[in-house]
Amino acid sequence: MKPVEIKPDIYWVGAIDWAIRDFHGYVTPNGTTYNNYLILDEQITLLDAVKHDFADVSVGNIRDLTDPSKIRNIIVNHIENDHVSGIGAISRLAPDATIYMTDRAKKGLGRFFDISKWDVRVVKTGDTLNIGRRNLLFLETPMLHWPDSMMTYVREDKLLISQDAFGQHYASSARFDDEFISTLSLSELEDAVKDYYANILMPFGTLIRNKIAEIQKLGLEIDMIAPDHGIIWRKDPSLITGMYLDMADGKADMRVVIIYDTMWHSTEHMTVPLAQGIKDEGVDVKVVKLRASPVSFAVKEFWKARGCLVGSPTLNNSMFPTVAEFLVYLKGLRPKNRIAGAFGSYGWGGGAVRDIYEEIKKMGLETVGQGVQVIYKPSGEDLKRCYEFGKDFAIKVKEYQSKFQ
Ligand code: FEO
Repeated sequence: MKPVEIKPDIYWVGAIDWAIRDFHGYVTPNGTTYNNYLILDEQITLLDAVKHDFADVSVGNIRDLTDPSKIRNIIVNHIENDHVSGIGAISRLAPDATIYMTDRAKKGLGRFFDISKWDVRVVKTGDTLNIGRRNLLFLETPMLHWPDSMMTYVREDKLLISQDAFGQHYASSARFDDEFISTLSLSELEDAVKDYYANILMPFGTLIRNKIAEIQKLGLEIDMIAPDHGIIWRKDPSLITGMYLDMADGKADMRVVIIYDTMWHSTEHMTVPLAQGIKDEGVDVKVVKLRASPVSFAVKEFWKARGCLVGSPTLNNSMFPTVAEFLVYLKGLRPKNRIAGAFGSYGWGGGAVRDIYEEIKKMGLETVGQGVQVIYKPSGEDLKRCYEFGKDFAIKVKEYQSKFQ
């Protein structure tokens, strides 16, 4: 897509990746965008690059607006490959540009590129850069998303370039929140935000809350937030900051998600009375089969719901491999403020339910009971036990949810 003016003389010059479905292992069913921005001021300034596959697209957008050799400043807000792997193309076209980044970004970028001939300036929180009619303010945001990360605030335009934070992996022709909501829907946008947050930013809720408080303390007026992925928040930036604060504070839907896998359908059959028991206690329920769903989808659904039941058949005295994969991925995301339990089937020795509880406890999540297990195939009596366990679990979820209201 051609450049889009987001503020007077400030342009989106990024690229839309409609086709990507595997973003370093995280499934992106809706693709993504790599956003970068060009400010046409007395000193032409580029904020961020794009993934190398799309460097020509971004350079083409820049050429539509100016000769790239006139770029005087390049701001590197984040050095993950989806943002800097295309910087080589830019730096070759703008060899005299000064490149601004944090100290950690400089150290990291030197591992990806030979930066010995680049004019790199290290910046830290509070440093400013005058580019003519505008002043840029840099804000370090370590671990949002990597240790090197920072944001750039364009004071005169009340614009925050937020790199990964406040983004979404969603390719669309909409560049702005209001366009997306009118052509797709607000709930689709919220779902994309939660998917991104759950899979990328879940471990950093406290940092997010503190960073938003720091920005508020600095008294920065913000009427637009432009992330490096997805849509730009121009109609209502408080929508996304509010969502982030809610998620950082542990907000979740009154719902139980049942995440399971199965070998010969015994564990699968157990999900039916479990779900019915939960529903009969007035709690919404969703069922996700791991072998039929990407693990990143399961994590999103885990994150949206207050409670989770994990189900697995026993294989070789432990859980099924897809269930283990889900739990390992989830553990790395350091989940909080969720309540969990387990269920499953076995043929002789058992072990899956025991091991799931162990893993859940290691994550520090609250657990309910000892779970429910059946041998070989659930009998009518077993199905009744599942129903009762579903009801008991839902009651505990309602009690737990009340702590967050
Ligand atoms: Fe979009 Fe952390 O990279």
